[in-house]
Amino acid sequence: MTDLDETIDRLVRPIADWPEPGVTFRDITPLLGDADALSAVVDGMVELAEKVGPVDTVLGIEARGFILGPAIAVRIGAGFVPIRKAGKLPSTSLSTSYDLEYGSATLEMHVDAMVRGARVLVVDDVLATGGTMAAAADLVAQAGGVVAGNLVMIEISSLGGVQRLEPIGCAALRTY
Ligand code: PRP
Repeated sequence: MTDLDETIDRLVRPIADWPEPGVTFRDITPLLGDADALSAVVDGMVELAEKVGPVDTVLGIEARGFILGPAIAVRIGAGFVPIRKAGKLPSTSLSTSYDLEYGSATLEMHVDAMVRGARVLVVDDVLATGGTMAAAADLVAQAGGVVAGNLVMIEISSLGGVQRLEPIGCAALRTY
């Protein structure tokens, strides 16, 4: 186990039965509040992002992809595009619905958020079933972009998200 693995284990707190019974939520807020840990996690994710090759746009998924995504985008010289839950974006948007580990949801992205052919890196905090990342890929395809890679801090491997995202898969700093 690396120092970074130990940091993530210590500062990402599992919350049992939240937001509903049977779900264990991975709360990254203690890690975000620790300057050294936040810096180490961003460094680690940038290292993984650089393996993806050229990236024009980092796509961050609401809500915690909005925290990690821009930090990574600035470091790799890419722009940032937010994917939001339904009804939040002000301009004309593309839309896709998907199943979550708990319930279902709709994600949206501005129709003009990226140029056709843009190489996109999708960033989020946690990969569980992969439904959210798959929905992001659908929005990128609708916009004419190309998903060059998917990247998270934490992967919950028992839920099969990486397999669902094949052949691109998803890079993770820490897998449980
Ligand atoms: C969590 C997490 C990912 C998603 C992963 O978000 O931040 O976005 O679930 O799950 P999946 O791989 O099964 O799709 P959540 O649904 O809790 O929404 P929030 O960011 O608005 O809290």
